[in-house]
Amino acid sequence: MDLLIKNIKGLVQVRDRPPKKVCGSEMAELPITGNAWLFANNGKIVEYGLMEDLPVSEASEIIDASGRFVMPCFVDSHTHLVFAASRENEFVDKLHGLSYEEIAHRGGGILNSAIKLQQTSEEVLFQKSLERAYEIIGFGTAAVEIKSGYGLTVEDELKMLRVARRIGNETPLIVKTTFLGAHAIPKGRDRNDYIREVMEVMIPRVAEEHLADYCDVFCEKGFFTPEETEMIIERGKKYGMTPKIHANQLHNSGGVQAGVKMGALSVDHLESMGEKEIEVLQGSATMPTMLPGAAFFLNSVYPPARRMIESGLAVSIATDYNPGSAPCGKMSFMISLACIKMKMTPQEALNAATINAAYAMGITDVLGTITPGKDASFIITKKIPSIEFIPYAFGSDIIDQVIIKGKTMK
Ligand code: NIG
Ligand code: FE
Repeated sequence: MDLLIKNIKGLVQVRDRPPKKVCGSEMAELPITGNAWLFANNGKIVEYGLMEDLPVSEASEIIDASGRFVMPCFVDSHTHLVFAASRENEFVDKLHGLSYEEIAHRGGGILNSAIKLQQTSEEVLFQKSLERAYEIIGFGTAAVEIKSGYGLTVEDELKMLRVARRIGNETPLIVKTTFLGAHAIPKGRDRNDYIREVMEVMIPRVAEEHLADYCDVFCEKGFFTPEETEMIIERGKKYGMTPKIHANQLHNSGGVQAGVKMGALSVDHLESMGEKEIEVLQGSATMPTMLPGAAFFLNSVYPPARRMIESGLAVSIATDYNPGSAPCGKMSFMISLACIKMKMTPQEALNAATINAAYAMGITDVLGTITPGKDASFIITKKIPSIEFIPYAFGSDIIDQVIIKGKTMK
């Protein structure tokens, strides 16, 4: 199966020799080739060029992209996409003035999701999650990281991760899975005893069934301390799981330092960042990942994206798609929030959602840029005037077609 896309108004994020990530001032540059064609075969990008030099006119599928941009699909490197039920009742509680922490304290929040997930069969959980997987494909996402952490028992954590793996096997999405047994202490459990179970029972069982690529901990006041985080992450590393940390969401939790020290691929959230946290990230291989949908939904402060970029850091953005703090899997909305609320430029936000997001998911070899040999996974926009129009028209569906590995999905 080969595919020719021609008359492309702008081929976005074209990089022949792509770096693994773009940092600091490099983030302002988004390479675009005007009036272009692109040729793909067997689900991979083969070549591209200018229309005036179009060498082929035959292909089993030809798309005329006149007036439209073609860009790499989004990569969503942080989600909790496998969950049993929405939590709009807590949303209303929040409107009446309760905070995220107060709701969690009353047995709502993560523990509420855990009870619902424990009562849901694996098959039903899969079907519900599958719907969300196709929803985000329609939003232009080709790769997604999915966490456990609403199981909180050995069997239910395994159930969540099996469902996440199955999403990867039964949809065209690239899926990476993350064990997040340390998301909250389950109701009625002794703290130390639960942490022991996470380390001595859950991690080995998850590893035995090859269910997780990454290990995450919710490093936050009232959840897990930096010391506990390091202990759990160390154990995960022993079993082959790369660290990824929920850090500095509600407080300056020490999660960033713990993450960098443990060699985390990413530290995520970052609403509470001081100069020390930025310093620690400089020169590290850890990708700071911001989740503006959670800050939007919880009406909290946003991560200091400008300060991070101006300090020379690479940053990425993800949705955090989950029923409690970010019930939205739409990357284009995150791009709008990154611009409107965090003062990132459209070019920076698009880099954060593609090349840098691919880094945060460990898939720079296949996604994130338009490069020969990478997956033929593209968003073809509607007829829009410019790339800046994408974050600007924050309520519009700017996506005309989604192609994943050469196959039209929308
Ligand atoms: O990333 N902060 C921790 N975990 C999720 C929210 C979980 C929930 O409220 O269900 C997050 O925001
Ligand atoms: Fe999260």
